[in-house]
Amino acid sequence: MKKVSLIVNGVQRQFVVEPDYILLDLLRKELRLTGTKQSCDRKGQCGACTVIVNGKSVRSCLTKVVNLDGAEVITIEGLGTPKNPHLIQEAFALSGAIQCGFCTPGMIMAAKALLDKNRDPSVDDIKKALRRNLCRCTGYKKIIEAVRLAARFLRGELTPDQVRPDPKQGLIGVSHPRPSAMIKACGVAEFAADIHVSGAGELATVHSPYAHALIKSIDTSAAERIPGVIGIMTAKDIKGTNRLKYMVPDRPILCDAKVRFIGDPVAAVLAETREQAVSAAQAVKVEYELLPVMMTPEEALAVGALQIDPDRPNLCFTQPQIRGDAEAALEKSAAVLETDFSTQTNHQAPLEPEACVAYLEEENGDLPTLVVIGRSINIHYHMGMLQDAVGYENMRYEEAYSGGQFGIKIDVTSEGLAAAAALHFRRPVRYIPSLVESMWLTSKRHAFRMKVRLGADARGKLTAYCIDFTVNNGAYYSNGNVIVNRALLMLSGSYYIPAVRAMSRLVYTNTIWGAAARGAGPPQVNYALESAMDMLAEKMGIDPLEFRLMNILKPGQPKSTGRVAEQWPLPELMEAIRPHYNRARNDASEFNRKGGTVKRGVGLGTGSFGIGGPGDTATVAVELDLDGGLTVFGAAADPGEGNDSMLTQIAAHLMNLPMDKIRLVTRTTGRTTAAGPAAGSRITYMLGGALVDAIHKLKSAMAEVSAVTAEQLQASGKPTRYMGTKKNEDAGPLDPQTGQGPSFESQVHAVQLAEVEVNTATGEVRVVKMTTAVDAGRVINPKNLEGQLEGGMDMGVGFALREIYIDGQTKDWVSFKFPTIGHSFEMETIIRETPRTKGPLGATGVGEMTMVPTAPAMMNAIANACGARVRHLPATPNKVLAALREAKG
Ligand code: FES
Ligand code: FES
Repeated sequence: MKKVSLIVNGVQRQFVVEPDYILLDLLRKELRLTGTKQSCDRKGQCGACTVIVNGKSVRSCLTKVVNLDGAEVITIEGLGTPKNPHLIQEAFALSGAIQCGFCTPGMIMAAKALLDKNRDPSVDDIKKALRRNLCRCTGYKKIIEAVRLAARFLRGELTPDQVRPDPKQGLIGVSHPRPSAMIKACGVAEFAADIHVSGAGELATVHSPYAHALIKSIDTSAAERIPGVIGIMTAKDIKGTNRLKYMVPDRPILCDAKVRFIGDPVAAVLAETREQAVSAAQAVKVEYELLPVMMTPEEALAVGALQIDPDRPNLCFTQPQIRGDAEAALEKSAAVLETDFSTQTNHQAPLEPEACVAYLEEENGDLPTLVVIGRSINIHYHMGMLQDAVGYENMRYEEAYSGGQFGIKIDVTSEGLAAAAALHFRRPVRYIPSLVESMWLTSKRHAFRMKVRLGADARGKLTAYCIDFTVNNGAYYSNGNVIVNRALLMLSGSYYIPAVRAMSRLVYTNTIWGAAARGAGPPQVNYALESAMDMLAEKMGIDPLEFRLMNILKPGQPKSTGRVAEQWPLPELMEAIRPHYNRARNDASEFNRKGGTVKRGVGLGTGSFGIGGPGDTATVAVELDLDGGLTVFGAAADPGEGNDSMLTQIAAHLMNLPMDKIRLVTRTTGRTTAAGPAAGSRITYMLGGALVDAIHKLKSAMAEVSAVTAEQLQASGKPTRYMGTKKNEDAGPLDPQTGQGPSFESQVHAVQLAEVEVNTATGEVRVVKMTTAVDAGRVINPKNLEGQLEGGMDMGVGFALREIYIDGQTKDWVSFKFPTIGHSFEMETIIRETPRTKGPLGATGVGEMTMVPTAPAMMNAIANACGARVRHLPATPNKVLAALREAKG
């Protein structure tokens, strides 16, 4: 042990610590300065734990306290408070640089260390200073802008008040900072791991090292003897169904008979500390009997392959889509492109681990309420899943601030373990899994294999599209059929294709399970279609932009589902991108004229993305408060998209109130009603729509009795609370034989332009610039909209070029190849606003849009640069070189 003196945020303190005690633990555990975060497994990979020590930014997870005697430490809490923020915190909030906010404290501390020394940093200086700080939400563009704005504040050139939008400018279409931005900037927004629960035990889980095996026995005796262990839970201790049923009841909280992928949870240990729980989990001995492993759909569909799920065949879902006679149309086509594509299994990669907390809340001797605080994006639905799985009805789910999700939280994960443990051990439980555990606990983006044929007539008009796609569903079903159906619902993308024939297969395998991931199905099939569009255009000698323009669907024409589109503002987007396309082509020609091994290329991709889904419905309530404010009750999860802004700005606008008079109650099942998931880019359209309906009802009631206050409403016998709903008028499933049927009430559209440089010697690809032209209907908050588009482009490039999840190998942010600020690139967003006829104030959703066309735009740009057509993502240097060799014959 050693005694150490430290000044922490200006206060002199003394600590007696062990040699290995790290600063991150001292700050978070001893001092409860939980603004300092942890994302990676203390490997120095994420930067979320960044603080300033003696004027330098350091990663507190790598810093031993014994080496800090006499040091001065500043954490995010030492900078400012929401009422009195530091100028850097102001700059981040005003720049729209804060989405989920999990990376924000670390980013701000790294920025402060830079700006303390350099008040006029260049972009390169900023990239260098923030090179160790990861962000999944923003694409880094607004973070760089925030640091530059902070520098201007610090140089005295501007004040925050000069930048802050004046409410007199209006509330809709204005980038007011998010209501939650400042508490995130100051490190006081509580994420699940930050919540203090007295007397809580810490959970750790035993995961299978095998992809497919029977569980023969579990020996917990050695683990039980480890000091601090409260107990060990196996499947037999779970009183409910032990199945987390999203669509089908196949995924256990803890495996009982067999394991189905590397990482499947087998047992859980509760101990006084996380370290003790982890040690005990390692001491649990599980005896397995290995079974044949099927990692690919081909293996799982082979004759005689073992059935993975006892109740469903390995081919667990299939849905065709047939429109016209595609085979005959291809026969008659002037040109036909036939090829195949595939996409990889990928991790959604929210920065925050899958943390959650569960405890029993006792009141007056009543049956205790099981409270689960986690990262759900669908709190009512998930609570129902948990109630069945753990066999306990009296439950409340609360959503903590959440460090991103991107589809990963469509399904319940760590909450099942924490809830079951809280019931079994009758102790409050904190489950703060490591990053690698979080990767094992969660779904991934499905890998697709696609064979396509695309035909056109002699004028270049598309005639038919055939696609045969197989989806690796992994070990559990989750919402696999939804992913397949979404791929079919948006199969013809932005185009009118007279004849379509699609066959789909969803297949159980022994890989990690797939579910939602930003875009959820369309990014995979759109990559195939948009790549095929370029390949066919090249075959026919037609410019890719002109080829797209001549085939874009027009209002009144049907999509591949047969549904006729009412609004389709894509031609305008093509024209908006045209000057950028021409400029980029000229730049590339100029660049390539110089010669050398690096070639520049330009590629396009388009996307038309459906919002919500057929039959979607949502409810939101509003209540006029006695002080003249308005409370909005709606289960609108906000893992970073800015749904708090959307609800607040719409409500303030319609009620003619200042934004601080709008109160949001969105994060608890106790005070909201079911409203569906924060998925499918649906929250603005569906919950915004329900909010508008609720406010119209309130205002009608007020007008009826000439009331302007809640008291007057009450005095006239009218309620002060009104429920609004929004329903997608198009409802029902696709026809099981033809895949024809209902579709989306509203879509968002984009045309994307990628400019890349390809090093033909190494296969390395550098993104020079990405430009997107998007029509998302009426814009509520431009900076929030841009933030979604920029984050989607960054994620799309990661998907296109490098990210991959490999069972048993991907264990941290380095092996996953998380995009850093060093990979960031210039982005431009062009916004057009065609008000949607049925959207709230004309708005629609946009969160997933740029994920859809980015990968094909990238691959088309690589092919344009050097002839290398990469058909199997990600386009790693080796694959680019192989494609180059193939192109050269
Ligand atoms: S927790 Fe310190 S760098 Fe990730
Ligand atoms: S805002 Fe950076 S990780 Fe979410």
